[in-house]
Order: sequence, then C-alpha cells, then structure tokens
Amino acid sequence: MLIVKNIDTLEKCLGEWKSLGLSVGFVPTMGALHLGHLSLIEQAISENDKVVCSIFVNPTQFTDPKDLENYPIQIEEDLVLLKKVGCDLVFAPTKTDMYPQGEEVVQFNINDLDYLMEGAHRQGHFDGVCTIVSKLFELVRPKNAYFGQKDFQQLIIIRQLNKIQKFNINIVGCPIIREDNGLAMSSRNVLLSPREREIAAEIYRILKETKAKFPNSSLESLKLFVETKLNAVSEFSVDYVEIAHAQTLQSLSDLEKNEPAILCVAVFVGSVRLIDNILLN
Ligand code: PAJ
Repeated sequence: MLIVKNIDTLEKCLGEWKSLGLSVGFVPTMGALHLGHLSLIEQAISENDKVVCSIFVNPTQFTDPKDLENYPIQIEEDLVLLKKVGCDLVFAPTKTDMYPQGEEVVQFNINDLDYLMEGAHRQGHFDGVCTIVSKLFELVRPKNAYFGQKDFQQLIIIRQLNKIQKFNINIVGCPIIREDNGLAMSSRNVLLSPREREIAAEIYRILKETKAKFPNSSLESLKLFVETKLNAVSEFSVDYVEIAHAQTLQSLSDLEKNEPAILCVAVFVGSVRLIDNILLN
C-alpha cells in the first residue's frame, strides 16, 4: 500500500495508473476508521482496479472548535486497517497542502440543501465539506467515489456538487454499518462511555419502531412520536427530527407518502452529537 503525503507524488501515481487504463475508486475520510469506513473501501475494491482513500481532518467543516479539538486521530491504526483490507493508496495531506492560502471556503450553489437539518444546525458545515471534497475530486479525478448513507444529507449534497461542478464522477451511496446493538458506527462513538454506548442504541430502536408505524400514521404524528420517544431517554438531548423526501430532502406532505421518505435525527448523548437515519418506505 502506498502512503502518499504530498500532492506531486499523488499526481504521479494516479498518472501512471490512468496511463495504464486502470479505473480508480475513491473513498474520502477523516480517519479514525471503523468498519463503516472499511465497508466503503471494500465496495470500492470490488468495483475498481485501484482504490484511493484520503485521510484528512478537514478544519473548515467543523462549526465547533471543541469538536475539532476532540476529533479522534489514530493514523497508525488506520494505516494497518487499510493495508489489511487491500487499499492501494492512502493520501494523507497536511493542512497547508489542502489550504495553501489559509482556511478559505468556497460557496457552491447546492440548491439550499445546506440550510436544512445538519446545515441549519451546523451553519457553514457543508461549505467546508464541499470545499474539501471538490479539492480532493479535482486531485484524484476518480471514476467512482463512495459515500456512506450514514451521512445521508452529505451524500445528497455531494451528488449535487458533482452535478454543478461537472466532475462526472459516479457517486455511490453505501449502506449504514451498525454495531451489534444497532448503534450506527461513527468515529465519535469512541467518545461515549460504555453506558452511553448502550443507551445510544435506543436511537436506532426508535427509528425502526417509527418505520413500522409509517404506513398508518401522518407525518406530523410520526415526528411527534420520535421526539417524544427520544426525549423520554434522560441522557438524550434532541437536536432535530426531520422527515424528508429521500432524493431532494425537501419536506413531504401526507399526500406524498408514496414518494421515498427518510427520517433523519441528530441527538446529543451526553456531550457527543450523533446522527442517524432510516428509509421509511
Ligand atoms: P468521515 O466521517 O470520516 O466519513 C467518511 C465516509 O464514511 C463518509 O462517506 C461517511 O458517510 C462514511 N461512514 C461513516 N460511518 C459510516 C457507517 N457507520 N456506515 C457506512 N458509512 C459510514 O464524512 C466525512 O468523513 C467527511 O465529511 C468527508 C466526506 C471525508 C469530507 O471531509
């Protein structure tokens, strides 16, 4: 496995592969890798000749400096996992490589998708995500790029970014990988105490219960159901509960229940903010 820290070396390797006609799959990450990330790498390996994974904790997408400060970094463990799974190249640039002019953020026209849910609660977050992903897409120019449905809104926004910037990359959405107790895997889970980790599994149980009610309930009553159930757990503090169109993320009316619907939640468990979602139909 090649470990590449600077842009020139990356371009040289990619140039060689592309001159040989090899297809490249790309998985951008912020490291602290778990089985969720590795499932994306595995899917990329099965669909491409070569796979590039980037590890870069992108400062411009953090809206809370404490969150950035606490973000887990474990590059050595990450490299072991990536090698084991069969990744071909890890790109781990420095901040100066990715932001040579300082932490400048570009604003893309992503159809106001960044004013909803995560965007509304973490203002500027998706400008940071789009800025770094677009820099990485320009460098790697992959055939396929892999994103988890765990960050459902991010996936929809990246599809829009790909369209408006005409990257012409095939954006592949991958299923959420969960712990045995149902908790969606996340780099932030290591910040939970063992007890909080158990309690946090309640989030997915509530999402599944809500999905079962979907055919016979109004959207308003479903939302209320989720909020009530989450609020009943004393360790939880609900940030938002939204039910939206699963392709456009626009709000749905009861008349549109045949349209693909997604339930998205953000919940603080103690001081750790977790997100999860479930397709309702
Ligand atoms: P990060 O949180 O490291 O996630 C990298 C990728 O792994 C994302 O596409 C995310 O959706 C996916 N992922 C995380 N947990 C998952 C799980 N439990 N199951 C399946 N996929 C999962 O998302 C980011 O980094 C950043 O915003 C990034 C796109 C790298 C830009 O900085």
